Amino acid sequence: MPNSDPDERAWWQRGVIYQVYPRSFRDSNGDGVGDLDGIREGLDHLVGLGVDAVWISPIFPSPMADFGYDVSDYRGIDAIFGDLAAFDRLVAEAHRKGLEIILDYVPNHTSEQHPWFLESRASRQNPKRDWYVWRDARPDGSPPNNWASEFGGPAWSFDGRTGQYYYHAYLAAQPDLNWRNPDVVAAMLDVLRFWFDRGVDGFRVDAIHQLIEDETLRDNPVNPDWREGMAPVKRFLRSYSMDQPGTHRLIASMREVAKSYARERLLIGEAYLPIDRLMAYYGADLSGFHLPFNFHLISTPWKAKAIAALVAQYEAALPPGGWPNWVLGNHDRTRVATRVGREQARVAAMLLLTLRGTPTIYQGEEIGMTDVPIPAHLVQDPFEKNVPGFGRDPVRTPLQWDAGPHAGFSPVEPWLPLAQDFRLCNIAAQAKDPRSMLALYRALLALRRKEPALAQGAYALVTATDEVLAYERRDGSRRLLVALNLGGTPQELRALPGPGTLLLSTHLDRGGDAFGEALTLAGNEGVVGEFGY
Ligand code: NOJ
Repeated sequence: MPNSDPDERAWWQRGVIYQVYPRSFRDSNGDGVGDLDGIREGLDHLVGLGVDAVWISPIFPSPMADFGYDVSDYRGIDAIFGDLAAFDRLVAEAHRKGLEIILDYVPNHTSEQHPWFLESRASRQNPKRDWYVWRDARPDGSPPNNWASEFGGPAWSFDGRTGQYYYHAYLAAQPDLNWRNPDVVAAMLDVLRFWFDRGVDGFRVDAIHQLIEDETLRDNPVNPDWREGMAPVKRFLRSYSMDQPGTHRLIASMREVAKSYARERLLIGEAYLPIDRLMAYYGADLSGFHLPFNFHLISTPWKAKAIAALVAQYEAALPPGGWPNWVLGNHDRTRVATRVGREQARVAAMLLLTLRGTPTIYQGEEIGMTDVPIPAHLVQDPFEKNVPGFGRDPVRTPLQWDAGPHAGFSPVEPWLPLAQDFRLCNIAAQAKDPRSMLALYRALLALRRKEPALAQGAYALVTATDEVLAYERRDGSRRLLVALNLGGTPQELRALPGPGTLLLSTHLDRGGDAFGEALTLAGNEGVVGEFGY
């Protein structure tokens, strides 16, 4: 782990990650679905934005039952996205432009069409039978236990041919691999090597808290706090199906692979867990993920005191040397501009990009995209089809490039409908508007690059009132103030620890102004200022 000298920090500690949802980033071949050449064409947008790394959600061959999170070949590219040559072109060009490439590794489950599963289900004697989690029915013929699928219904499906159930934390089309089998571990670690050898700079690791299950498959206890309206899977506490002992040893084996490269590759883990459990994913002596994704900003109420408490709790819980990270949204969660509103989304951007650690921006956040309502006949997401109201299509609609046909995303009707406001809310229009959301993201990313204290300096709370969250970011040479008004009315901050100068306002209408021991924020305004040292 690099020490505290900013120059010795790794790229992923200094940098900002941008998530590309490949079906919806840019369509180069006119089939209505985004692809690898489209991502390559769009790289200049990301360079202009000022991010450092691009994480691309799954691009591997897949029947697309869960839009790529059901992989049928870990070593190829789905034809809808291109081929390995297109992938190599993308990596080469990204690297030329100074961008790192992070792929998505889906270790918990394969597609039911993966050759491993086809073999596994062929007979009970097949050498790959134990590569998946097979169990006998209970005496009454019901599934082996009460575990529920994340996407609704039981987590077990009966296979008539061999007379046993197989386990799937997600869809029946996504059977869980058995990571207690060493051959599975070896085969899956080879997948990492395959892509690292091809020049990939890191992986985001999918659903890591689901990797292994209780050996004796005990029933999960009923969740006393479950209420109507919550996801059906939450009827039970997933005490025996999630976050099991043994997971961390397996993550450490992934890390060993990442470490075996001269320039260590990055591993980010996806785990929706309370902070105390999440911290274990850094691993004993930091032998686990470099970054266990911290999703807590997504679920914390948009209130100054709640956010201050979250930051304090998270910072205090980090293991020694553990590097923080922050996320406002992704392809599975309501867009931040929908959750907090368009005006507060600007404040949220300033928060994300001024907290200590590595931020991840989800495609479209940089222009303030909101959730797009999807008419029933256009629904794609299997989660929505199984459990109406929980679908993720609204956050996966095409990126809005310009005001032209299909928002410049594709020459044809895209696979999901466009936001109605795309003629106003798009990259080209915002690039011309000096006060747009895009202009704000660019300014924030430029400031972050110029002021290493923002990514790396110490965090100290200045104040959290009902409306205002203010904190200092300080390193050996700079003392910066971040003050965010989470409400719509002007707020005065008093007794600041010294006079200073404003560097940036989310409204992009003031900078360079001096302030004394008091500072007035307009409604929905955030500012970054500097104190004399
Ligand atoms: C988490 C991914 O982000 C989500 O999109 C997917 O459906 C599940 N894991 C299953 O792979």
